[in-house]
Amino acid sequence: MRVDILTIFPEMLRSPLEHSILKRARESGRLDVRLVDIREFSTDRHRTVDDMPYGGGAGMVMKPEPIFRSVEQIIADAGDAGPARIVLMTPQGEPFSQERARELAQEDHLALLCGRYEGVDERVREHLVPDGLSIGDYVLTGGELPALVVLDAVARLIPGVLGDEESPRHDSFTDDLLEHPQYTRPADFRGWTVPEILLSGHHEEVARWRRRQSLLRTLQRRPDLFRRHHLTEEELTLLGLERPRRRKGRPRDNA
Ligand code: ADE
Repeated sequence: MRVDILTIFPEMLRSPLEHSILKRARESGRLDVRLVDIREFSTDRHRTVDDMPYGGGAGMVMKPEPIFRSVEQIIADAGDAGPARIVLMTPQGEPFSQERARELAQEDHLALLCGRYEGVDERVREHLVPDGLSIGDYVLTGGELPALVVLDAVARLIPGVLGDEESPRHDSFTDDLLEHPQYTRPADFRGWTVPEILLSGHHEEVARWRRRQSLLRTLQRRPDLFRRHHLTEEELTLLGLERPRRRKGRPRDNA
């Protein structure tokens, strides 16, 4: 997958690309990240990328010309990667989620446009990049950190980027559930011991314990997710519950 990140602060993004899984994914050729400096597409000798808002008010607004030119350059240079799915990082975008990460991981070519200052000239949203993504209901100083969040979440879902043992199959949110608790050595740390079942070697029992923990912790910590999860018969049993019987209520008017 190719990912272009359009920003006026490319240096902010460089280091995270040089570590851990993002580094490995790039080195294996599965991920090709290009940092595009929007300032290079400015049209004046001061390399201006922002200006005062029409109508007055505090802060600066990112000018449309350098953004249009940089996106147009990416479109022209797409090559084998094909047309890019272009997304503006903005607190006004659609909420980013694991589901959205899975969807973006199917793309061959993504372009993440990082907004800054008070925002981006509205004509960018209207005529160039209708898709926006937000990583949460808070305002950051720019779209660079959100772009990294999206890149990281998407890159680890590209087939082959994670080894089998790191598989994203059991990730939290995969089926609207949080992941079960994890432990490693030592089995006794300061008197706090690892649950016995995990040391037992009974794989099926371990799987059942983990599933139960996953259900319980989702119910406790994220009741909103739990409500979305469709409980199987086995999960109901794990929780010591029965599926509520359909009540033989009053016949419906047209029944
Ligand atoms: N830019 C500033 N805040 C943001 C957020 N919460 N999500 C995406 N982009 C942003």
